[in-house]
Amino acid sequence: EQYIENPTGPIHHEDIPRVMEKWRTSISVGEPYEAEMRLRRADGEYRWFMVRTEPLRDEQGNIVKWYGVSTDIEDLKRAEAALKESQRRLEEAQRIAHVGHWDRDLETGRITWSDEIYRILGLSLQERDSTRTEWLDIVHPEDRQRLSLAIEEMQRGIRRFDVEFRIVRPNGEVRFLHSLGDVIRDERGRPLRRFGTAQDITERKQAEEKLRATSEQLRSLSASLQSAKEEEGARIAREIHDELGSRLTSLKWDLEGINKILSDSGEQLPELRKKLETMIELTDETIDTIRRISSELRPSILDDLGLVAAIEWQAKEFQTRTRIVCTCDCSMENVGLNRKQSTAVFRIFQEALTNVLRHAQATKIDIRTKQEDGQFVLTVSDNGRGITEAEKSDVLSLGLLGMKERARLVGGEIDIARSEEGGTAITVRVPVARNGGC
Ligand SMILES: Nc1ncnc2c1ncn2[C@@H]1O[C@H](COP(=O)(O)OP(=O)(O)OP(=O)(O)O)[C@@H](O)[C@H]1O
Ligand SMILES: [Mg+2]
Repeated sequence: EQYIENPTGPIHHEDIPRVMEKWRTSISVGEPYEAEMRLRRADGEYRWFMVRTEPLRDEQGNIVKWYGVSTDIEDLKRAEAALKESQRRLEEAQRIAHVGHWDRDLETGRITWSDEIYRILGLSLQERDSTRTEWLDIVHPEDRQRLSLAIEEMQRGIRRFDVEFRIVRPNGEVRFLHSLGDVIRDERGRPLRRFGTAQDITERKQAEEKLRATSEQLRSLSASLQSAKEEEGARIAREIHDELGSRLTSLKWDLEGINKILSDSGEQLPELRKKLETMIELTDETIDTIRRISSELRPSILDDLGLVAAIEWQAKEFQTRTRIVCTCDCSMENVGLNRKQSTAVFRIFQEALTNVLRHAQATKIDIRTKQEDGQFVLTVSDNGRGITEAEKSDVLSLGLLGMKERARLVGGEIDIARSEEGGTAITVRVPVARNGGC
């Protein structure tokens, strides 16, 4: 026990007014006193102390002395400050990233949200203790069931909580959130808390939606262009075939007639007859050309004999023209695709052949068609140099892009891979329409 001359001597001057005021009140009412203050040590360094004093009274209840205990709380104070700082940084980071965290104590059922969650939800921080802070009340009615299911699955340990859902702010504004979470368990595996993050992804969602709408528009534009082109091609093909083709055929008929008359009449006009022969030949060639052009515009064989026969015919023609050996393994008859679908497959097939001729340096092409899992499957494999990944994904590869688009428009898809012989294998898969086709 020591009598201190000047009790305020070691107290930091900034703390003196606060400490003294409290001290005076304590003395006047005779109540125990407790305060945190900085005290100077003998070496001159100030440290935080917790000072507690209590009055000692005599039998009549008069205060005789004050006893005090001071505890060094410097380390505690520092830890507290560091904690506050890191909490501040966490809040700041969350504010910048629009990510907040939530924490539900499973014993008490209480949920705690970080400040950013309140901001995301459009709630003020004063609502911290209100009963409004229930997820499901704020979630968009259409997303509630999905969210409840996800929470339940997380709780039961079926899968991690990873959900995108909408919330409705008090002012009616709808925001998109992405939330991730996990159940935190004790060492015996009993669930203690559910903890997770939630991010406001509204801007990203809106951008995605815009992009989706734009590509949808481009798709339907390209679809209508494709079908307009096919229809126009079919119309021109018909005109050429029916009009020009039939007229030329009758012209040829007439020329042959004249030739016959001349030979029957025994007239010796060798020059005239030679000219006639040449005219007949030219007419024949022109008829062939017309057939070729019109079948390129719209392969009538596709309508007459169906897809598989058209593929076989095209392969034969390709082989004659290019001397690249084409083998067909196409044993099916009725493939069940509708007209649109078979046109798409046929055009894809034609582009695949053209690509082999232009790029593959192949000597052989294997063509296979089959029916598999309700899909019509066509594979064109060459034994050429193969296609590189870069070529496959080149945005300027309009031929490949066109193939993919055509397939997509009829509900199908394209796969480009390495063929068994090291070349390229293009596979087209198209679901077979229910109500049959050609
Ligand atoms: N069978 C193949 N073998 C090797 N490379 C191929 C084959 N098919 C395509 N390629 C490569 O892929 C690229 C893209 O093909 P794509 O059909 O998209 O374009 P393209 O044939 O060059 O031009 P186009 O737009 O006129 O069709 C080709 O340039 C070629 O390098
Ligand atoms: Mg091409």
